[in-house]
Amino acid sequence: MIEVKNLVRTFNSGDRTIKPVNDVSFELEQGTLASIVGKSGSGKSTLLSLLGALDKPTSGDVVVNGVSLAGMPDAKLTEYRRRDIGFVFQQFNLIPNLSAVDNVMLPMEFAGIRKAVRLQRAKDLLVQVQLDPEKHDRRTNRLSGGEQQRVAIARALANEPQLILADEPTGNLDEQTGDHIIELLSSLSRNHNTTILVVTHDRALANKTDRRFRLQQGKLTEEPASRPVVAASA
Ligand SMILES: Nc1ncnc2c1ncn2[C@@H]1O[C@H](COP(=O)(O)OP(=O)(O)OP(=O)(O)O)[C@@H](O)[C@H]1O
Ligand SMILES: [Mg+2]
Repeated sequence: MIEVKNLVRTFNSGDRTIKPVNDVSFELEQGTLASIVGKSGSGKSTLLSLLGALDKPTSGDVVVNGVSLAGMPDAKLTEYRRRDIGFVFQQFNLIPNLSAVDNVMLPMEFAGIRKAVRLQRAKDLLVQVQLDPEKHDRRTNRLSGGEQQRVAIARALANEPQLILADEPTGNLDEQTGDHIIELLSSLSRNHNTTILVVTHDRALANKTDRRFRLQQGKLTEEPASRPVVAASA
C-alpha cells in the first residue's frame, strides 16, 4: 500500500515560485494499475520522481507499506529506489551496447544476486514480456522501440519491486504496440500483485487502468473507474 500525504513540491524559477505538486494526497492498494493524465508541465513527472525517491518533496510524505520516506536517510532512500521501485521511461533508458538479457540482469547485479540466478531470472522475465527468444542476446540498439520497451519493463521487474513508475511508456510507440505494452502492464499488476502508476497523454491507455487521476495546476483529482477493480489472484 502506497500512501501519499499532502505532498508539495515547489521550484524557484527566476523570481517566481511554481508549485507543480500542490498538496497531493491519495492511496493505492497493492496490485492496483493507476494512471495519471494532465497537460504538459502539469507536474506528472515531478510527482513520479517524488514517489520513486528521485527527488525530495518540499513538504508532505510518501508512506510505503507503513514506512515513511520523509526523514529516511539518503542511503536508505537509495536502497528503497533500487529494491522497491521499477522505473520505465519514454526513452527506454537501456544500455545500447549490452544485450537484452544483460540489461535485465544489471539491477540484479546491483542487488547482489548470484550470476546463475540473475541469468535465469532475466530470461524468464524476457519470456514474460514476450520478447522473441532469438532476440534475448541481441544488443538493445538493434531492437525496435516496442521491443526495447519490453526489455525496459522486464528490467523494471528484475528486483520484484512493489511499485512500478512508468512515465509515458507508450509515448514513442505506435498505437498497436502501445496497446500491447499496456496489456502487459495490466497483466503484471494482476499476476505479480505489483502496483503500477503510469503517466500518459494517451486517453485510451488511461481508460484501461483501474484508477484514473488527473493532475491540473498541482492538484490531483480522481475520475470514475472504467475497468472493474479485480483483486489479484492468490
Ligand atoms: N528541477 C526543476 N527545476 C525547476 N523547475 C522544474 C524542475 N523540474 C520540473 N520543473 C517545472 O515544473 C513543472 C512541471 O514539470 P513536469 O516535468 O513535472 O511536468 P509534466 O507534467 O511531466 O510535463 P510533460 O507532460 O511535458 O512531461 C514545469 O513547469 C517544469 O518546468
Ligand atoms: Mg513529464
